[in-house]
Amino acid sequence: MGNPVAHSRSPWIHARFAALTDQALQYDRCLAPLDGFATALAGFAAAGGQGCNITVPFKLEAAQAAARQSPRVALAGAANTLARQSDGSWYADNTDGLGLVADITRNAGVALAGKDILLIGAGGAAAGVLGPLLEQSPRRIVVCNRTAAKAEALVAQHAELAARQNVVLQAQAQQALDGDFDVVINGTAASLQGAGVPVPATVLRPGSLAYDMMYGPAAAAFLDWAALHGATGRDGLGMLVEQAAESFALWRGVRPPSAQVLAELRALLATEAAH
Ligand code: ATR
Repeated sequence: MGNPVAHSRSPWIHARFAALTDQALQYDRCLAPLDGFATALAGFAAAGGQGCNITVPFKLEAAQAAARQSPRVALAGAANTLARQSDGSWYADNTDGLGLVADITRNAGVALAGKDILLIGAGGAAAGVLGPLLEQSPRRIVVCNRTAAKAEALVAQHAELAARQNVVLQAQAQQALDGDFDVVINGTAASLQGAGVPVPATVLRPGSLAYDMMYGPAAAAFLDWAALHGATGRDGLGMLVEQAAESFALWRGVRPPSAQVLAELRALLATEAAH
């Protein structure tokens, strides 16, 4: 459920998960009016809907619509997954950060414990992943954002978790970034506006992982920038598949073969791009 949703690959991903795990599942796109999320969700429930993913711009409303929230939702203030509870009300979770961490640690094979991480952006996308990144116990996470006050607010909101995980968590201005990082994660919408990468290349070390949470043309500028400066670029397609896998596991209690489906989706997109 989102607006827009026509581009969404989620129905394809969940159909593959269902086929590969022998689950009977119907998963469709639902375009909700910008001012009509609550009505659309009520209609889905009335039609027997048992669970859904929520995408832009309804993740905040989805969190608020739920009777019960996971600790991740409470921290991020946003939900991407709703599951029906036995009393008919909604349980909200946020699997975006789990998907990002799974893609980096399992699919890309980069451990985050003890590492220095730069998170660029402080909007909904960045807010959804900061908690799960902290749970990996990196050495340091710096959040930087064009609007510095939003980065500071996001850091303040996560200060307690950072202290518990023994992570140095800081907000820094984009123009005055200090040092370089093992992992640089782009969670901004800058590329959608045709803007360049919003941080200097000095944040990269040779061999740093430079991760864009977007995929396809929207990730191209960031990945080109990473390659130009000797970093290893990775787009967010694996995050998309892994967050879907976490949602699927929540709904069905079955873990789908996400690495296989990621490989299939990459092949499908490459075929489409070639035509
Ligand atoms: P999303 O839910 O996709 O995160 P959002 O909440 O609108 O969307 O956040 C977009 C993020 O991209 C923000 O961090 C935004 O920076 P501001 O908080 O300063 O608005 C960032 N962003 C958008 N356009 C940008 C640009 N041209 N340069 C740098 N950052 C940009």
